Amino acid sequence: MIEHYKIITITHKSAEIKDIGKFVIPESQDKPVYSILEALKKELSISELLYLPTCNRVMFFFCHEGKVDQKFLIQFTKNLYPEWDVTEAISKYIIHEGDLAIQHLYQVASSVDSLVVGEREIIRQLREAYTKCSKLGLTDDSIRIAMNTTVRTAKSIYATTKIGQKQVSVVSLAIKKLLESGISNQQRVLIVGAGQTNLLVCKFLKKLNFSNVTVFNRTLERAEEVASLVKGKALSIHEINKYTLGFDAMVVCTASTTPIINSEVYQQLLQGETGSKVVVDLAIPNNVDRQTVTSFNFNYIEIDGLKKLAKENLAIRSKEVIRATEIIEASLLEFKSLYTERQLEKAFHDMPVRIKEVKAKAINEVFRKEVDDLDDETKDLLERMLTYMEKKCIGIPMKVAKDTILP
Ligand SMILES: NC(=O)c1ccc[n+]([C@@H]2O[C@H](COP(=O)([O-])OP(=O)(O)OC[C@H]3O[C@@H](n4cnc5c(N)ncnc54)[C@H](OP(=O)(O)O)[C@@H]3O)[C@@H](O)[C@H]2O)c1
Repeated sequence: MIEHYKIITITHKSAEIKDIGKFVIPESQDKPVYSILEALKKELSISELLYLPTCNRVMFFFCHEGKVDQKFLIQFTKNLYPEWDVTEAISKYIIHEGDLAIQHLYQVASSVDSLVVGEREIIRQLREAYTKCSKLGLTDDSIRIAMNTTVRTAKSIYATTKIGQKQVSVVSLAIKKLLESGISNQQRVLIVGAGQTNLLVCKFLKKLNFSNVTVFNRTLERAEEVASLVKGKALSIHEINKYTLGFDAMVVCTASTTPIINSEVYQQLLQGETGSKVVVDLAIPNNVDRQTVTSFNFNYIEIDGLKKLAKENLAIRSKEVIRATEIIEASLLEFKSLYTERQLEKAFHDMPVRIKEVKAKAINEVFRKEVDDLDDETKDLLERMLTYMEKKCIGIPMKVAKDTILP
């Protein structure tokens, strides 16, 4: 019944974090992500599709009646990643079908499958990805039902277990590393990008009383909003290669699929200073290009480097993961009955109209002559009997089907 649900995903469990970035579909003017996904749907007979790129996974949750076999995977890869070696790309995929796809979706939403177990950002990212895909017409009823139960399951896990207690996130671990590297709150910090991640970074900096922060962003208003949190300065990202005030630490995190900080920009920001510098790059794919990382001497903190801290965090939360897994199993059973019920409702949707038509035909055509000969009282009785039968004819098959099929 739910075999058509599938997931193809690349996660921190199947690939290096820096390689996950290569599976993020690049945004370009002539080929927007939406048109690429739309073409994929058509090409592979996918009826519904949800695409989720985050900092530790790229996930395609979709509905497809056939099997996800080698032929499917080859076509999938050629469509999305034409530049890639097909065998290498496929070796990074994790595939889930039917029950296991829904179970995986629940694990993702509740952070059980996250690099940083207990982080709550993922549920926001998943909901945003769903809203985007549904607005674009990529999803329909099946993914809608799955998403409703996913959000419910994740909320119940966060509310009834301690998985999200003492909130942790990729950002909180990165800030921990930044402080461990010796950066103090009087030093100069540049923030590049003013999305949700850097907003969170600035909330931490505010708590820690950082007092010299400059925020660069493509949209200046967003930079101003984020900078105001830390009483910092806001600049357009176009001014980054004219900036002359130097820095001690820089946090780079935008949704750009091409690097923002290259050697030329870095050299400009450095202003000839020789003191130690820290660069935190939380973007996937990375926003600091590899050449810059290898050519300059700075302490580079990226998500891959947070794995050790993430493992320690998982150890603390392992009991809660067991509790969460029990909730996920119970939710999966509920989902199966809910889904079957929904399918039955859909199948029986036209029934009332059709039965009404049979009744009308009986009175107005098949038995018209006989009915015309009846007196008013008998006609009224006949009408009431037929209405009674009509209601029963709608309710009984639905009940029998539910009793027979539902677990
Ligand atoms: N959310 C998390 O928990 C988390 C944690 C770690 C890492 N990350 C990674 O962080 C990155 C950003 O995620 P987010 O949730 O912060 O995104 P977001 O809230 O959607 O914000 C996107 C940011 O990127 C900027 N941007 C987008 N395209 C750009 C381009 N072509 N050039 C320059 N700037 C561009 C946006 O500028 P405008 O304001 O002008 O649109 C905005 O500042 C992603 O790679 C994500 O995987 C996220």
